[in-house]
Amino acid sequence: MGEDSNQGSLPRHIAIIMDGNGRWARARLLPRYVGHREGVKSVRRVVEACLEKKIKALTLFAFSSENWRRPGEEVSLIMDLFVHALKKEVVALNRNGVRLRFIGDRTAFSDNLCALIAAAEEETRGNSDLELVIAANYGGQWDITRAVQLLAGRLATGELQPQDVTPEVLAAEICMADLPPPDLFIRTGGEQRISNFLLWQLAYTELYFTDVLWPAFDGHKLDEALLWYANRQRRFGRTGEQVEQQKGA
Ligand code: IPE
Ligand code: IPE
Ligand code: MG
Repeated sequence: MGEDSNQGSLPRHIAIIMDGNGRWARARLLPRYVGHREGVKSVRRVVEACLEKKIKALTLFAFSSENWRRPGEEVSLIMDLFVHALKKEVVALNRNGVRLRFIGDRTAFSDNLCALIAAAEEETRGNSDLELVIAANYGGQWDITRAVQLLAGRLATGELQPQDVTPEVLAAEICMADLPPPDLFIRTGGEQRISNFLLWQLAYTELYFTDVLWPAFDGHKLDEALLWYANRQRRFGRTGEQVEQQKGA
């Protein structure tokens, strides 16, 4: 099967905007925080499903660079939840062959959270069954800006000339350069927007939107998304006939 034909295949890399925690809780007359807490259970379910299906990489949007605009109390409860989840989950993730890493600007996090993140990354570094990437204080514009800053530094020293700056050279500085770009993007919670998630990496990703709120997302809902994905024809600029021909070749 050619790399562009998709029929029946599983994504190598799934990226998810886990949205709808607050609405899930409010619908039950519960504080928004309870929705975030329930959302952690959905993370566990989806990670287990990805391990079972041997999906190589899963990137989860946990906190955007814009989420600091929320009430201080909600932000601080989300940070507490990160700390709690890291303390609780890393041993099992490690045992299950998951490599955990974080993308985003972690300088804004507490020393305690930074230390837990660093320890979790170190502890799971040797694993390769599933690459689990948590986007926390992440923004797609931040990611691209940071990559441009790195290139600008190399331009300033003369190591790089302006004409050397190609999409490939820039891509090498973007977060997750060592992973295949996401094949499938999922956003729960009904909104159809990217909200400054992976801007560069989603260039050719299949985009799937569902009204299901994140705390209600589970293995069956993931299967629905995977079935939808398996029926997409990925053309990467070519014609549908070309893709069919390549598949037959
Ligand atoms: C997503 O759920 C979780 C975070 C942004 C941290 P929301 O908290 O955005 O839930 P809704 O969109 O308000 O329902
Ligand atoms: C996006 O959800 C960020 C995360 C899920 C972490 P939001 O709920 O913050 O997105 P907007 O602000 O509604 O676009
Ligand atoms: Mg939301």
